[in-house]
Amino acid sequence: MNLKQIAAERAAEYVQDGMKVGLGTGSTAYYAICRIGERVREGLNIQAVATSEASDKLAKEWGIPIVPFDQIGRLDLTIDGADEVDPEFNLIKGGGGALLREKIVAANSDKLIIVADGSKAVQKLGKFPLPVEVVPFASEWTFQALEKLGCHPEWRMDGDQRYLTDNGNLIADCRMEAIEHAAELNVQLNMLPGVVDNGLFIKMADTVILAKDDGSIDERH
Ligand code: A5P
Repeated sequence: MNLKQIAAERAAEYVQDGMKVGLGTGSTAYYAICRIGERVREGLNIQAVATSEASDKLAKEWGIPIVPFDQIGRLDLTIDGADEVDPEFNLIKGGGGALLREKIVAANSDKLIIVADGSKAVQKLGKFPLPVEVVPFASEWTFQALEKLGCHPEWRMDGDQRYLTDNGNLIADCRMEAIEHAAELNVQLNMLPGVVDNGLFIKMADTVILAKDDGSIDERH
């Protein structure tokens, strides 16, 4: 039983004819895109934006009409995965490196549905390293600023090179184990001049759909 697929396909049922839809990134959002793609092939009429080059490619393979972000206007719905979800629906995202586009798309959506297997539910965020997107210019200075904030950053690597996002930026994964004040940290991080954004999604999710080990769905609003 594929728990990611169960959660993602449940979320895909929310997509209705005529909607403008944000397509997330990662191994769970993958199944949502595939299910939406099947429905498009059956006649569902939607417009979509993708949160990464990978999701853009997948959506186009399914024939989902992709519209540039600046032309689509406000989205009805975005379906995306998460690395951690706390009881208040605050999230860590960006394990797949797409946090910036994901946050922009989520902020432009009337509804954000998060899909995940039950292992992503946590009492407190922070065990999963928090991704912080950093511009290459003066990146060592920004890295030191993250260290001074107590974030324990490590550059994400891609082989022996630093990982680059779809936006040409670096990712510092911050190993904090537990984040006591996520909303405050979100603001502190984004006030650092070299930081573009970070993977904390505070009060952005409207619905969380988790597939539990027995295959049942825990859906909360
Ligand atoms: C992509 O950058 C991420 O935000 C993903 O949404 C998140 O990492 C969840 O990915 P999986 O569904 O692959 O676990």
